[in-house]
Amino acid sequence: MHVTLSSFALVAAVSALPNRQGRADAATANAFTLVAHAPDPNVDLDPSVEGLVLSSAHTGAGISVAVFTDGTPRLFYQNGTAGASTLLTDSGSPPFPSSLQLQAITEPRTAGSISIGQGSPAYVGDFGTVINGIEVGTFLACPEVVPYYNQTFITLQYVYGDAAAGDVPGCAIIDLQARCATLNDLPDGSISNHHFATDVVCQ
Ligand SMILES: *[C@@H]1O[C@H](CO)[C@@H](O)[C@H](O)[C@H]1NC(C)=O
Ligand SMILES: *[C@@H]1O[C@H](CO)[C@@H](O)[C@H](O)[C@H]1NC(C)=O
Repeated sequence: MHVTLSSFALVAAVSALPNRQGRADAATANAFTLVAHAPDPNVDLDPSVEGLVLSSAHTGAGISVAVFTDGTPRLFYQNGTAGASTLLTDSGSPPFPSSLQLQAITEPRTAGSISIGQGSPAYVGDFGTVINGIEVGTFLACPEVVPYYNQTFITLQYVYGDAAAGDVPGCAIIDLQARCATLNDLPDGSISNHHFATDVVCQ
């Protein structure tokens, strides 16, 4: 598994700014990790995916599958304003941006990707969960064999529209919750930049 996160980046530096709903106690941060929350135990995996963190399994140059792990989470930031933003995470040396990519609305459901290239429209909403900017839908955690490893990973997936348990056999229905973290400084020569990172509501 390809993980590139130093632990100091996980130390949350949060501030108590009012969010758009005026909740004075909502924490915000300029970076975050993503955690699976399974609100309905009847639509969960066994063992539960509750608390697993989003990381990536490297499958090629600049290409990874979005997978959940009980190991080290990836550090994400929201690039751009809500409505026109994507979720980015830096990879490699020198650091370059990888984006969270989900299938288009017309494509069959497939495991999400954390790869170079344009990210899917997405943002962290006022309740601190990831919202797809294309259309309302449901995040899933689905065991799937990743051919590169010939191994089963719990992959992040997304289904557009409402999903009931019967629609997504073998998957957990989840929320992707943002946990507050601090964006790292980038070394000279980085391909990534953090100029458009915006604060998000997080826990
Ligand atoms: C980040 O957002 C800026 C401003 O919208 C945009 O120009 C840039 O291409 C985005 N970066 C990536 C890697 O998508
Ligand atoms: C993949 O794993 C399965 C089960 O562990 C094994 O039977 C199969 O031969 C493997 N396939 C390859 C291409 O290694």
